[in-house]
Amino acid sequence: MNEKQRKEQAQIKQVSSVDRKSSQDKPLSEKTTEDFAHYFQTTYTPPDIKKARKRGRDKIEVHYDFEIPEEMSKIGKGKKFLIRTYGCQMNEHDTEVMAGILSEMGYESTLDTDDADIILLNTCAIRENAENKVFGELGHLKPLKLEKPDLIIGVCGCMSQQESVVNRIMQKHQQVDLIFGTHNIHRLPDLIKEAMFSKVQVVEVWSKEGDIIENLPKVRHGQIKAWVNIMYGCDKFCTYCIVPMTRGKERSRRPEDIIREVRHLAAQGYQEVTLLGQNVNAYGKDFDDIEYRFADLMNDMHKIDIPRVRFTTSHPRDFDDHLIEVLAKGGNLLDHIHLPVQSGSSEILRKMNRKYTRESYLELVAKIKKAIPNVTLTTDIIVGFPNETDEQFEETMTLMEEVGFEAAYTFIYSPREGTPAAVKKDDVPMEVKKERLYRLNDLVNKQSAESMDAYEGKVVKVLVEGESKKDETVLAGYTEKNKVVNFKGPKSIIGKIVDVKITDTKTWSLNGELVEKTAEVSN
Ligand code: SAH
Ligand code: SF4
Ligand code: F3S
Repeated sequence: MNEKQRKEQAQIKQVSSVDRKSSQDKPLSEKTTEDFAHYFQTTYTPPDIKKARKRGRDKIEVHYDFEIPEEMSKIGKGKKFLIRTYGCQMNEHDTEVMAGILSEMGYESTLDTDDADIILLNTCAIRENAENKVFGELGHLKPLKLEKPDLIIGVCGCMSQQESVVNRIMQKHQQVDLIFGTHNIHRLPDLIKEAMFSKVQVVEVWSKEGDIIENLPKVRHGQIKAWVNIMYGCDKFCTYCIVPMTRGKERSRRPEDIIREVRHLAAQGYQEVTLLGQNVNAYGKDFDDIEYRFADLMNDMHKIDIPRVRFTTSHPRDFDDHLIEVLAKGGNLLDHIHLPVQSGSSEILRKMNRKYTRESYLELVAKIKKAIPNVTLTTDIIVGFPNETDEQFEETMTLMEEVGFEAAYTFIYSPREGTPAAVKKDDVPMEVKKERLYRLNDLVNKQSAESMDAYEGKVVKVLVEGESKKDETVLAGYTEKNKVVNFKGPKSIIGKIVDVKITDTKTWSLNGELVEKTAEVSN
């Protein structure tokens, strides 16, 4: 089919639904053009925050019965897939699940676009530039699709949860065969079948979150560190953030399933797990049958024989005393906490709906430092929130110093349609926002460099991950506090935790020498 025919046929696109309920009403094959009419509108309906805020505590069911339909289990034999991942660790981990599903369908992975039979873009909607990258990539893929009409191009992840994006792709990017949302990943085999055989654009985006499906296959990236989802979604509704709309409401995996997964990883020789969630310390709040929270989970992690346990991201609001007490036990619970503050101004924090103040954040930091004296704190900061004044920005600068963050991800505020902050008039010019970001970044670099300098001559424990990206005669790994260390050593120590003496420090990394025995160990 040529491009023109494709376009014509796209007028009767098959869309399973943006709404799970109506998708269940009618099988796809029985749908008429009218059923898809809402997709042809050019006006954009933003994600409905009011509806999302009211979402109730519908019972989330946990399923253990995922299987690849028989007819799809060999369909990928001799074929290859490529998944490009944008955004956060949640997406990285979803990619591992999709790679698992595709592998069970017989596909092999490739890094070469020309070689791929399926290309999936697992997208991020957090800031405008994240979205622009994806639209740029779709443009690059267009000639390939024209050359290889059987190639399946799919868009999934957080961007596809937004109706505006779906509309834009349907209208302007006919090279895309398949669009599916973050709650539809387990439907991948059926969706690929649909995309393969119907040869028309297939869209399936459930606006309502799905249940938890436990036994999805995964192909993990590497055998040293692993991600483990402990919860999905976010109910915090920070006024700038799209995530509560793209990922649905908070829902926690059952403790026994998480513990089993981590034990299994430990038995396979993994050295480190990172527990994942948009705010992991809200874990368990949605359980109505058991009193089991994040602190309890970390306490159970502490008992598992795996050398390193990390978590991301924790929200200051749910960081309770019990959690601090458990983390202070140390052992495999590392003394690095990523605790996004977003702003140092209480007024801006109020406008962001963060539900804490500068003062209460500092109190929390003081409590953490008292319980874990050697703790390393890192953070996320947004500059240029609508109408942020110079004084308010200065408060962010002073907070940065006062806490002594050793690293920070810093962002210029990006309005996201459908979020409350996006409709606010904003009197701060972009030039001023950029200026603030540069100043903040200078401070972040300075604090990071200072924290690195303190390691000179010290011995640190490094989990060796592989060869350095820049020089294959050099090995690279991470300390317990997540600092990159480069040093020379035999390849046989890749995947092990070794002692390295730091000889030289840079702003964002450390150089060192492998040591056999150490007198003094610093993390
Ligand atoms: N759940 C985590 C963070 C998720 S998003 C938390 O609450 O800490 C990662 C970071 O992206 C956020 O911490 C925030 O700093 C940034 N971010 C989110 N929305 C943004 C927006 N609209 N503009 C700029 N940065 C944003
Ligand atoms: Fe977004 Fe706030 Fe939820 Fe983090 S806690 S994902 S910033 S709404
Ligand atoms: Fe982006 Fe979605 Fe993660 S918006 S930051 S990929 S949850």
